[in-house]
Amino acid sequence: MWVREFAQSVFSDAAYRYDRVAGWLSYGQYPRWQRFLVSRIPPEARCVLDVATGTASVAVLLARRGHRVVGLDLTEAMLREATRKVRMLRLHGRVFLVRGAAEQLPFSDGAFDALTFTFLLRYVQHPSQVLAELARVVRRGGWMASLEFGLPDPPWRWWWSVHTRVVLPAGGRLVSDGWHRVGRFLGPSIEAFCRAHPFPEVRAWWEAAGFVEVRRRRLSLGAAEVVWGRKR
Ligand SMILES: C[S@@+](CC[C@H](N)C(=O)[O-])C[C@H]1O[C@@H](n2cnc3c(N)ncnc32)[C@H](O)[C@@H]1O
Repeated sequence: MWVREFAQSVFSDAAYRYDRVAGWLSYGQYPRWQRFLVSRIPPEARCVLDVATGTASVAVLLARRGHRVVGLDLTEAMLREATRKVRMLRLHGRVFLVRGAAEQLPFSDGAFDALTFTFLLRYVQHPSQVLAELARVVRRGGWMASLEFGLPDPPWRWWWSVHTRVVLPAGGRLVSDGWHRVGRFLGPSIEAFCRAHPFPEVRAWWEAAGFVEVRRRRLSLGAAEVVWGRKR
């Protein structure tokens, strides 16, 4: 199965109760990671694109800080949950949801003051090319920030392995078949991506895409990483 179809099928199955389950399976850390990501975007950025917006949690946090937000995602089921949430929170004048693919964004060069993306690069075939496409729609002097899972250092790595190999699949199974699939897939996917693309390589992608002052903060003992930078 192609990577894009795989992502779509996984997230179509996991859209239902996504926020709640993601919160449980991260021991409540998920919202904290999202808040730190959003804090990397300066308040003066008027218009922000949130790619892989999913159920729009990051888009909502951005809108509540006063940004105008476009949330883009590949998966219809996730966007349905996002639409429901945005309406319920009466943010539909500030958050606009669009179906699309990160590989080919339907926006002109430099259209946004800032861009956020979460848990995206593991689901694309050519991460460095996708990063360049994301950078294309950020204006010169604008900002970009990402949130992704990471690999904790020893001795915490042992607990992380138990969590991803045992707790996630078992916890996912209690929720639904779709979440069981996510639970089995996540650990190996994170490990493979982190080993294949250590941070110096990821930073080089950001720099090649035109970003300077590229920084990384590891959160929750390294289980998550936020990377951010400013476009030259
Ligand atoms: C783990 S979810 C993250 C959702 C949300 N950002 C969050 O933090 O809760 C990953 C999202 O990436 C989306 N996605 C995967 N590949 C994509 C692509 N090539 N273009 C756009 N969205 C994609 C999926 O549909 C899914 O909603």
